[in-house]
Amino acid sequence: MARSIRPLVAGNWKMNGLKSELAIAGAVATGCDAALRQAVDLAICPPATLLAALSDSLAGTGIATGGQDCSREASGAFTGEIAAAMLADAGARYVIVGHSERRTLHGEDDATVRAKAEAAVAAQLVPIICVGETRAEREAGRAVAVVCGQLAGSVPAASGAASLVVAYEPVWAIGTGLTPTAGDVAEMHVAIRAELGRLLGQEAASGVRLLYGGSVKPGNAAELMSVRDVDGALVGGASLVAADFLAIARACA
Ligand code: 13P
Repeated sequence: MARSIRPLVAGNWKMNGLKSELAIAGAVATGCDAALRQAVDLAICPPATLLAALSDSLAGTGIATGGQDCSREASGAFTGEIAAAMLADAGARYVIVGHSERRTLHGEDDATVRAKAEAAVAAQLVPIICVGETRAEREAGRAVAVVCGQLAGSVPAASGAASLVVAYEPVWAIGTGLTPTAGDVAEMHVAIRAELGRLLGQEAASGVRLLYGGSVKPGNAAELMSVRDVDGALVGGASLVAADFLAIARACA
């Protein structure tokens, strides 16, 4: 299909992956033919322990790597934290910030997510800012308002199209096998683009890649990826199976 924005398919391995699982990324690289490479940007976000090795092993393949989180701080006495510059130093191009698992399990609010996104940009990384409503918020008819509120609070003020990716991940769709209807995804992505226009100006907003995430699988990817204003996918579980991740990427091409 004709796309005005080059799609991005990013795999979020979450807290999965030992050194032996680097072979998954090797299989993705091997299975990514020239046509796919030309049509879609691919990225894999492994646990931080694998980032340097994965970046090295994917060098020259065109497949990028990313972190799953970063500190809002640049350096210093923050035991256990990882600075954005460290991710960049390990070869990352992207970093996921504000994933719902971070927002929920680690109490990260919009201001924290924005500070992390700013730290990412300062380290020349592209933040993938995640937003999404809970089941209760959707049932209360508040999904669009919640997501637009998260954007207003999380997106750095001066973001340009090249320095920002937004991932819409409904909390209730993550890891559940449930997905919104194509119509609900379209409504949300159009609303996200409009809110980004309000926040950043139309020109910047029109070029920001908007990913859908939440139970994207080979069987539903073609439908989800054909939705208006969906410019790719953020893939959890299916990114741990090379053939599935590649099938999802092909659905974007
Ligand atoms: P699943 O694809 O496993 O639902 O996870 C989605 C996600 O959280 C990606 O960041």
